[in-house]
Amino acid sequence: MNNLIKTLPKVELHLHIEGSFEPELMFKIGKRNNIELPYKTVEELREAYNFSNLQDFLDIYYTGCNVLIHEQDFYDLTYAYFTKAKENNVMHTEIFFDPQSHTDRGIAFGTAVNGIRNAMKDAEKNFGITSQLILSFLRHLSEDAAIEILEMAKDYKDEFIAIGLDSSEVGNPPQKFEKVYKMAAEQGYKKVAHAGEEGPADYIWDSLSLLNIDRLDHGNRAMEDEKLLAELKERKMGLTLCPLSNLKLKVVTDMRDHPIKKMLNLGLKVTVNSDDPAYFGGYMNDNFAAITEALSLSKEDLFKLTSNAIEVCWASEIQKNNILSELNKWKMMG
Ligand code: ADE
Ligand code: ZN
Repeated sequence: MNNLIKTLPKVELHLHIEGSFEPELMFKIGKRNNIELPYKTVEELREAYNFSNLQDFLDIYYTGCNVLIHEQDFYDLTYAYFTKAKENNVMHTEIFFDPQSHTDRGIAFGTAVNGIRNAMKDAEKNFGITSQLILSFLRHLSEDAAIEILEMAKDYKDEFIAIGLDSSEVGNPPQKFEKVYKMAAEQGYKKVAHAGEEGPADYIWDSLSLLNIDRLDHGNRAMEDEKLLAELKERKMGLTLCPLSNLKLKVVTDMRDHPIKKMLNLGLKVTVNSDDPAYFGGYMNDNFAAITEALSLSKEDLFKLTSNAIEVCWASEIQKNNILSELNKWKMMG
């Protein structure tokens, strides 16, 4: 791989911790917890990663979650992600966590949060990677269920920077979650939401106006609406794009059609992210490599993608300056 991409300092803002669950670790934890997966081998599981759309993927993703029982399991999952993040020169990361994928199976909220948080702390100590956690609601479930999760999170308030919204987009529009977003805002959370991945541009408008989001996850379909593109630019809205995810879930059929370069040229605050790297064939380096090749990105483009991420992330000012200084050093290199 291109050395420029490997050495580029990175900030990851769209990563589902459950989507970083590599099959080898999934089988290992399943075995230790005496939970059988509906696949006999790692290879058989990997062969199933052939998705036609978002729902195809989500069905397998939720199945994988079933082996996570103990705090140690959540710790191991999270620490494994950070090991990959380190290899990919990620300096700061903001991680989605779907509590309902676990509490609905009878796992205590605190079991999952404590495991994840302890791994985040150890990763900062051992790798120098800073991180934040985002409490994400499953949009195929009811708003009342999301409110229950927000209530559970009260005892762990300091552990989360923001709330988010993920899972099956079409048919589960932003207005379904207007009330819980208002409640979370009153409690001081920042707000993000997946929108315009499979859902229409209207879902992006509604995420802006009804959910009052601070950052937009995906947002690909904004390309269909010029007024919306102008609005996103005017608001300096961060967009967390996920190139390999988009290819795997058929949001784009060819990487050469990915909108990230056009959005960058329009002056939007776009960023590169891996979404669910264990399922979509790559972590940050692979995502950068795929778009750099397909869209002929320049060194200046790569610089802008990380500087956008620094701007729209929620790291401390000290850490933002630290990453920016690494980025400037990178710019001066060969
Ligand atoms: N959950 C995990 N990955 C997701 C994605 N790309 N879109 C919606 N929900 C998700
Ligand atoms: Zn996502």
